[in-house]
Amino acid sequence: MKILITGGAGYIGSHIGIELLNNGYDIIIIDNYCNSDRNVIRIMQQIAGKSFLSYDCDLRDKHQMEMVFRENAISAVIHCAGLKCVPESIANPIPYYQNNIGGTLNLLECMKRYGVYKIVFSSSATVYGLNNPVPYKEEMLLSATNPYGWTKIMIEQILKDFTTAEKDMKAAILRYFNPIGAHPSGLIGEKPEGIPNNLMPYLCQAAAGKLPSIKICGTDYRTADGTGVRDYIHVCDLVKGHVKALEKLDFLTGTEIYNLGTGKGSSVLKLITTFETVNGIKLKREISKRRPGDIDESYADVSKADKELGWKTELSLEDMCRDSWNYIKKNYAVSTE
Ligand code: NAD
Ligand code: UFG
Repeated sequence: MKILITGGAGYIGSHIGIELLNNGYDIIIIDNYCNSDRNVIRIMQQIAGKSFLSYDCDLRDKHQMEMVFRENAISAVIHCAGLKCVPESIANPIPYYQNNIGGTLNLLECMKRYGVYKIVFSSSATVYGLNNPVPYKEEMLLSATNPYGWTKIMIEQILKDFTTAEKDMKAAILRYFNPIGAHPSGLIGEKPEGIPNNLMPYLCQAAAGKLPSIKICGTDYRTADGTGVRDYIHVCDLVKGHVKALEKLDFLTGTEIYNLGTGKGSSVLKLITTFETVNGIKLKREISKRRPGDIDESYADVSKADKELGWKTELSLEDMCRDSWNYIKKNYAVSTE
């Protein structure tokens, strides 16, 4: 079976590609490399020991997208391509709507035209907004605090409408919690970019000596130690959920939604101390103010994915901290002094 991965050179898409190849699937990748490197394709082929086709293609380019679908017998799509930086989406919303929504609409049109009926979509826990109690359940009301989050809510709605109108079409929406970690080879992972917005990339940059200290954004949250709590999930566990979702699509009608998390929350301080212990690094800490819009706690109710997909996570916070740093150390670290 040939699976098209959009955004397949990115952090999550590249790990999905390797998992699919290891499970006997053929893959094709589309990426415009706006947030990834071309050499990831070669590295994926090296890790999996298999080759595959990749297209340097923007999802919004109708002509090129037609060509990809015409040239390949695609069985299903895993749709990861999109812009994902929250503050950037607030500062400059139009490209976020153009890219994430426009790209998805173009993809769905091609799928319809070429009779490709199955799609797995990378959504986010951000759709639970500010007002739901934890743990988050799939049926809760959705809201967003930024344009990035709205694109996820809108795409979820588009998929529901599309699968209602097109009776053969099926979609699995996967709401990722906080993916961190990297492939155990240390050859692929989350590419560091400038000053990171998210906690784990920030920790790694500080550990690599590229930032003077780590920043703890708020110590007055209503949590056990006062710092924000999130559901960190190892990217290698996350991608296994995609294989399960693909298998499940054969037995679904319409659209189904699954949370992909561990079901457990860890605080900022817990992540920092685990990172330091596992990697034998001491990081300088700086207390900073809360980031606007940040919530106290976010973690998943994972019972639906467990029951319906037969999926649950296996890797620990220690594994996540070790593998994230292993990737940065191998590829980007300059100094650990
Ligand atoms: P990423 O930026 O590493 O990967 C996305 C890939 O899509 C990149 O390689 C980029 O070049 C490509 N891309 C973007 N726009 C494109 C377009 N128009 N045409 C073709 N390629 C395009 O991001 P990621 O962390 O791998 O995230 C993958 C998906 O998961 C995204 O949709 C993201 O919103 C979602 N998600 C990520 C997280 C996270 O913390 N990483 C959490 C929740 C949801
Ligand atoms: N934090 C710090 N210091 C930092 C960065 C973050 O203390 O330098 C704190 C935050 O305040 C929060 C926690 O670390 O309490 C996690 O923050 P992240 O930015 O790593 O993760 P978020 O849960 O805030 O958001 C991320 C993505 C969203 C996505 C969400 C769920 O940025 O787009 O995960 O998938 F929706």
